[in-house]
Amino acid sequence: MPVISAPHAFNEGNLFIDLESSFGCRLYLKCEGFNFAGSIKLKAANEMVEGAERDGTLTPDSILVESSSGNLGVALSMIAASKGYRFLCVTDSRCNLSTRLLMEALGSEVHVVADLDTNGGFLGTRLDYVRGLCASDDRYVWLSQYTNAQNWRAHFRTTAPEIAEHFPRLDALFIGTGTAGTLMGCARYFREWHRPVRIVAVDSVGSVAFGGEPGRRMIPGLGMSMRPPLLDETYVDEVIRVEEADTIRTCHRLARRGFLFGGSTGTVVSAATAWLARHGTPDLTAVAIAPDLGERYLDTIYQTNWLEDLYGDGMLDSAQVNPS
Ligand SMILES: Cc1ncc(COP(=O)(O)O)c(C=O)c1O
Repeated sequence: MPVISAPHAFNEGNLFIDLESSFGCRLYLKCEGFNFAGSIKLKAANEMVEGAERDGTLTPDSILVESSSGNLGVALSMIAASKGYRFLCVTDSRCNLSTRLLMEALGSEVHVVADLDTNGGFLGTRLDYVRGLCASDDRYVWLSQYTNAQNWRAHFRTTAPEIAEHFPRLDALFIGTGTAGTLMGCARYFREWHRPVRIVAVDSVGSVAFGGEPGRRMIPGLGMSMRPPLLDETYVDEVIRVEEADTIRTCHRLARRGFLFGGSTGTVVSAATAWLARHGTPDLTAVAIAPDLGERYLDTIYQTNWLEDLYGDGMLDSAQVNPS
């Protein structure tokens, strides 16, 4: 029985869903949404805050500041509230309303930028805003999830060993890429493991994380409008890019089976099931990582008007959501 006195002291790291009955392939989904921050970002937030406390960057007078599309902001809001730090989150107009309200409920200040950067995303604008704040007042401490090595170390220390423990014969691992913290932590861990594991990075069409043309992306979490500074492609065996329409159909397909997940899970599961349909053999063991759950996406991915406005009518035809 876990008994805790700080919200970040609890995280369910040992929950996997067997998707064979839903998707007809041998794929296990590692669920990272069962903690008080509701996402995998709790791990990176914890590790980065503890690192900054250890090296003396973060002191009781500090004001934490971070650019986040939402989930890291919620995790930092929770940790800041628990430890007594002030926190300002710089996000953008793609951040879900419920995520923003959650940060504010936890006592954080939220600043929303609305100007697109030259790659058609908001990241450049968000980072410029954070840099401006840091230059204006030296109480601001920017953990910088995009460059902070504690981000990937969190997954090297926790996410990857949790998978390794349950799947000693793992063959392929599917990991969504935002900052590339999860990807690099897991990829570095499995590079040193007792058997080869195919590391498949999953990105969304329109993201420039691995190169390619920038394009419209409406689902937060996955994808970047710049190359992730933490990314080292020598650790990545393959990259799969997923269209947002496929992400959404996969989210709805999971929801019809009672599993309500966020957009990045739909993206990763879509990539993994397509890959397994091409390469899977009956004895191959594959795991995909589900970064969060679906409640924060009720007014977007799970809302018919939002879907029809952005992607047109009929994208959720039952034949596509419930293939026989
Ligand atoms: C929902 C969701 N999925 C995926 C990711 C990507 O994780 P990472 O930043 O470790 O690459 C994030 C990160 O913000 C996220 O919030």
